[in-house]
Amino acid sequence: MVTKVLMVCLGNICRSPLAEGILQNKVNPDNVFVDSAGTGGYHIGNEPDHRSINVATKYGIDISKQRCRKFKVEDFDEFDMIYVMDKSNYNDVIALSRSNSDKNKVQLLLSESDLEILEVPDPYYDEQDGFEYVYHLIDKACEEIAMKFNAIQDS
Ligand code: 4NP
Repeated sequence: MVTKVLMVCLGNICRSPLAEGILQNKVNPDNVFVDSAGTGGYHIGNEPDHRSINVATKYGIDISKQRCRKFKVEDFDEFDMIYVMDKSNYNDVIALSRSNSDKNKVQLLLSESDLEILEVPDPYYDEQDGFEYVYHLIDKACEEIAMKFNAIQDS
């Protein structure tokens, strides 16, 4: 069975495309499908922000073929887990939920890590170094998530 994971941020051009690419890079695609979406619709159809593409490329991950899309209520049916980057994303996604089953799928991405912060900050108004910082936060959480998936597959 394929587990489907959706990464969500506001714009779907900075953080969630990184989260999609980073997790995809750590799991077996036969077992885990990863996608991303934004709660806002400002950039639909666009490629990720060049600063996200740059930092991903630096670590050997190509996210340039991703295209921005908006989160939709059907995503609750399609995906098993919905990871959000910050509490504002959490509230926006929860506002669209129809049931406890929908709500239970939604989790802050960094709650999977032992980092002391729970939110991946929005780097949109930062320089490239803000994207480098965000990359490492996301990478830490995705490492934990991937370890869980890989443990399940090995058992
Ligand atoms: P993201 O960053 O949510 O990490 O994709 C943002 C990108 C664009 C905007 C806000 C946040 N915006 O307002 O256009």
